[in-house]
Amino acid sequence: MTYLPSYWYNIVADLPVPLPPLLDPPEYESSRIAQLTKILPSRIIDEEYTLNRLIRIPEEVRAVYRKIGRPTPLIRAEGFEKALGVHRVVTIYYKYEGALLAGSHKLNTAVPQVYYAKTDGASEVVTETGAGQWGLAVSMAAAMLGVKAAIFMTRSSYLSKVSRRIAMEALGAKVIPSPSRRTKTGKNALYRNAHHPGTLGLAITEAVEYVLASPYRRYVAGSVLESVITHQTVIGQEVLHQMPEEPDYMVACVGGGSNMAGFTYPAIGMKLRGEGFEKTKFIAAESAAAPRLSRGEYRYDGLDTGLVLPLAKMYTLGREYVPPPIHAAGLRYHGASSSLSLLRKLGYIKAVAYEQEEVLRAAILFARSEGIIPAPESAHAIKAVIDISHKAPKGSVIIFNLSGHGLLDTDAYESICNELVTGEISVFND
Ligand SMILES: Cc1ncc(COP(=O)(O)O)c(C=O)c1O
Repeated sequence: MTYLPSYWYNIVADLPVPLPPLLDPPEYESSRIAQLTKILPSRIIDEEYTLNRLIRIPEEVRAVYRKIGRPTPLIRAEGFEKALGVHRVVTIYYKYEGALLAGSHKLNTAVPQVYYAKTDGASEVVTETGAGQWGLAVSMAAAMLGVKAAIFMTRSSYLSKVSRRIAMEALGAKVIPSPSRRTKTGKNALYRNAHHPGTLGLAITEAVEYVLASPYRRYVAGSVLESVITHQTVIGQEVLHQMPEEPDYMVACVGGGSNMAGFTYPAIGMKLRGEGFEKTKFIAAESAAAPRLSRGEYRYDGLDTGLVLPLAKMYTLGREYVPPPIHAAGLRYHGASSSLSLLRKLGYIKAVAYEQEEVLRAAILFARSEGIIPAPESAHAIKAVIDISHKAPKGSVIIFNLSGHGLLDTDAYESICNELVTGEISVFND
């Protein structure tokens, strides 16, 4: 049978300096850290704090991994190289996480978290979602494992990503636009702005408040927590087995950091241990609407807007930051995972930020040359690859993570396709 990892890789064991721990916000008497036991599945808390390099993947989870399409393919992007005019100058590969049943990498952690919640005796899992990739993954994992799901979806996405909302509902999930009237935080936000577009930070606070109202609910996190991003390392471990040679560049988009971490950490770990990847550059592609790694501050900040969760040390734009409602809604989070932030601070990762229009053009060029419509989030990595491929020395190898497909994101491509049809623009920037 084809290779499927037996362990998740925990980079915390190999970091050159200790990872700054989660802290309690000083303004509250009750401990947010102690409260995590009522919010998260118990195994997630264990994994959050472990210093073990390898965490065994339960066999039940591995069985579902096979069912959802792991291992995913690593594909040579020859058509894209030709479209860019760099064929035989640089070589481009992509790891295609859109091949998973829910269409993105998010299932890699949805499955173990829902499994852990169920083994704790929970009957409902609760979360937030932006564009809906994470919400869809949770809805699918919940349907597969036989628990209920409640999804707080940022209002701007609830209104624009109708197909994904309906897909979640078809799978049996309850989808609630955030801010909502179900929680104190939601009501306060709506009182301040009746047309609040919602943010991921706010939707997290709502989801956690909702969990705390019943002992049979557990919160499942889409990104940022170390345990969660560790689950994504199945991506990078498979890449180590699949790639024909060590790349010069590894590129991924960043929201909270989970696909970038999952894709690169097994390689960065080898670099940290002096076992390879000396020359490889690791590039994080963000949205200019939420450029936390490129332009944020490195400091302690709330994981969520309402401070129901602890503080983490990370690059942040501030937990109150409300990014404009872009199509790549999954990149609108204010911060990035602690370990990714630390690696950025130490210079192991470089960050670039792009505007929406140039990203969508990159996506269309990729779609027309490779036959895959990328998720708008993943398209940020594609734009970065285009820039790198034009500057990289001859013979360079670039591998990027195509974190999801965009077949349910056609709203993002509507106006650009109309303009292409009428000849108002071309896919190239000239
Ligand atoms: C397809 C896709 N890629 C990337 C992201 C960004 O999240 P992360 O940085 O955790 O991978 C999202 C978030 O929703 C997503 O849906």
